[in-house]
Amino acid sequence: MKFFIDTANLDHIREAQQLGVLDGVTTNPSLMAKEGITGHDTILKHYVDICEIVDGDVSAEVVATDFEGIIKEGEALAELHEQIVVKVPMIKDGVKALKYFSDKGIKTNCTLVFSPGQALLAAKAGATYVSPFIGRLDDVSTDGLNLIAEIRLIYDNYGFDTQILAASVRHTMHVIDCAKLGADVMTGPLSAIEGLLKHPLTDIGLEKFLADYRKGNS
Ligand code: E4P
Repeated sequence: MKFFIDTANLDHIREAQQLGVLDGVTTNPSLMAKEGITGHDTILKHYVDICEIVDGDVSAEVVATDFEGIIKEGEALAELHEQIVVKVPMIKDGVKALKYFSDKGIKTNCTLVFSPGQALLAAKAGATYVSPFIGRLDDVSTDGLNLIAEIRLIYDNYGFDTQILAASVRHTMHVIDCAKLGADVMTGPLSAIEGLLKHPLTDIGLEKFLADYRKGNS
């Protein structure tokens, strides 16, 4: 299972990279705005800065919603750095653009996916990644994890290569449940990744080992 971090915060990206478990980064316009990254050139430079910190795929989202606009913006994003994956929304012109990029060998991440039918379309169009938003489904009393299970079943039935990128992951149990269900990738905040470290018995056990060592070696 690949671990992506879902942020535009360079300190968080560095922290996850230094842990040695990071496989990539996802961003979106809201995450960029949260870090105060605004203005076309500043946003493009920020994507390059992110690519220079991590080794893996970095999703950069288009803001155009028409086919020509998505293509123009996506091609410019892909030119920025070899690690860039063009993030395209699940709309009609987005599906057409996924197919176009796929035919040109440009990697894509189909975002804002909330149903198995949308995921099937993304795979048919040749998306590299599909991003079902599990946290946002949970927010509206719908089982986000069930969507991961449904997409896994459909993709396995037909051997689709599109990777299931569980997005809108909010906490460590989302990560563990996505791993059990066979998501190829999860993207979440630094807290969801670092939360996997925590267990009180580890802390208690380490304290006791060190205390016993000190007793015998003082
Ligand atoms: C996916 O790529 C999105 O950036 C993200 O996971 C959305 O998460 P949120 O629902 O916590 O905003």
